[in-house]
Amino acid sequence: MYPDDYDRLLNLVQKRRSIRRFKKDPVDPEIIEKIVEVARWAPSGFATQPWEFVVLSDREHRQAIVDFTAPYWQACVDMEKARPRWQGKTWTLKGMSDQAGDYRDAPVYILVFGDPRALEALPMGVQCDNHRRRLIYQSSLAGAFLYMHLAATSLGLASQWYSAVQTPYSSCLIKEYLGIPQNFDIYDMMVLGYPAATPTKKFVRGRHEMLHWGRDAASRLRGDDEVRDFVRRARAWVTGMHAKKKED
Ligand SMILES: Cc1cc2nc3c(=O)[nH]c(=O)nc-3n(C[C@H](O)[C@H](O)[C@H](O)COP(=O)(O)O)c2cc1C
Repeated sequence: MYPDDYDRLLNLVQKRRSIRRFKKDPVDPEIIEKIVEVARWAPSGFATQPWEFVVLSDREHRQAIVDFTAPYWQACVDMEKARPRWQGKTWTLKGMSDQAGDYRDAPVYILVFGDPRALEALPMGVQCDNHRRRLIYQSSLAGAFLYMHLAATSLGLASQWYSAVQTPYSSCLIKEYLGIPQNFDIYDMMVLGYPAATPTKKFVRGRHEMLHWGRDAASRLRGDDEVRDFVRRARAWVTGMHAKKKED
């Protein structure tokens, strides 16, 4: 038992929050090396370690990413406007379209790529099961990516997921721009810098509501009404968060 380790770990994961406003101060390359060093130790399905990390700190390169993802935000806004009203209250658009306004200020972007060639290391039983193959690949990349965020938090940095880079149009252009083969996958992009905002109180489900011991878990799962209520509150929290970041 290492009780200190547990306390420190819990403290670190509670401290890790998505921060979407950054100071322009540069981040030392040594710090970036430290972040990737932690990711290097992440678990991966059948030790495939399919990840590659591309660090962009030049203004021109970061601007290219901003430009390649901008149409996605416009598409999101248009889709919400077009969404049939019978689905109930939709997302408010406040803040959604100008996410770019925040991450543009960050001094570093780290793109995490998946190299599908590494999946050759999977046994035949997994190779043949496309769904499982995909899950193992994605989960491995997700683990490394989460480790990066924890490492960044431990070093006093702010980080944000920037998943818009995964969309077909953006990812295709980003790969072309960086000379990365098109059959690679962009897992996600970490926006990194020193924090210029403090996060709002976290919206988090209760442990007792999600932890089920033994059989007959089905009888304790949330009912449809509870989930609907949760979805309403989660949306309100995220929307409020995006609206708030504009006012800080
Ligand atoms: C798979 C995944 C994708 C995400 N994509 C984005 C994103 O594109 N932009 C963003 O600002 N936050 C993104 N986030 C961050 C979530 O919005 C955030 O984790 C959630 O609201 C909880 O807040 P917290 O990170 O402060 O705990 C993503 C998180 C995950 C796990």
